[in-house]
Amino acid sequence: MEIIAKDTLAQRIVRLVVKTPAIAAKARPGHFVVVRLDDRAERIPLTIADFNREKGTITLIIQEVGKSTALINKMTVGDRFADILGPLGTPYPIEKIGTVVGVAGGLGAAPLYPKVKALYEAGNKVITILGAQRQELLILADELKAMSHQLLISTDDGSLGHKGFVTDLLRQVLHQEKVDEVIAIGPVVMMEACCKITRELNVKTVVSLNAVMVDGTGMCGGCRVTVGGTSKFCCVDGPSFDGLAVDFTELRQRQRYYSAQEKAAYQAYQEHGTEGCRCLAK
Ligand code: FES
Repeated sequence: MEIIAKDTLAQRIVRLVVKTPAIAAKARPGHFVVVRLDDRAERIPLTIADFNREKGTITLIIQEVGKSTALINKMTVGDRFADILGPLGTPYPIEKIGTVVGVAGGLGAAPLYPKVKALYEAGNKVITILGAQRQELLILADELKAMSHQLLISTDDGSLGHKGFVTDLLRQVLHQEKVDEVIAIGPVVMMEACCKITRELNVKTVVSLNAVMVDGTGMCGGCRVTVGGTSKFCCVDGPSFDGLAVDFTELRQRQRYYSAQEKAAYQAYQEHGTEGCRCLAK
């Protein structure tokens, strides 16, 4: 569980390559892990953004959004996680489908990449749409380009590619091509907007949901989502689901459940460091 490589992809976003042969041996696109920094640390679910079975490594991409992710992003080569649980979740099925459009918003590029790579290698035509607020926040553009027949980029401010949103490009592609499946991964509002377009055109759409998780093994119920009117656990039934059946309104509400505590812990960490956070937790 030792970090053997680290690089910075964008402001507050780092990529870690971690030696963990047992997990790398079984990892498949769509899987994730739960990591802990030490025996008092929060359990953090992280998508397996890539894996190498021969080298026994997995790749994790982490954006600093709170105390725990700030601490992880401070780790460096040679540091070790206390534990890594995985691979978890239901893998995304890799088949010869035809033409697939992958859409990633921001950090969504991390869970999209292994799916796009496997679909490309399986002989599908892959068109990838990558978006971010501005150019310097785009991640994995080169990696996605290498595994796509076409890569389209959008930025909110127009600093690179189309000025606007990934949904503008998705609509454009769907009107130009016969598309068999769309995979949309990113902020909830983005995935919901993509599904609104694909529903109109009746195109199968898979999303990857980032529900609040605790154990990651189906025991706590924290990651419950409603799909097609049925309760599902994101950690064992997902995180990939039929986007046209997801209750995004409920997902948004549940994602906000601990936001006050998360904000307070991050603020205490920024003001007082790790000890500030631990005092708050007592
Ligand atoms: S994280 Fe606990 S049930 Fe899914």
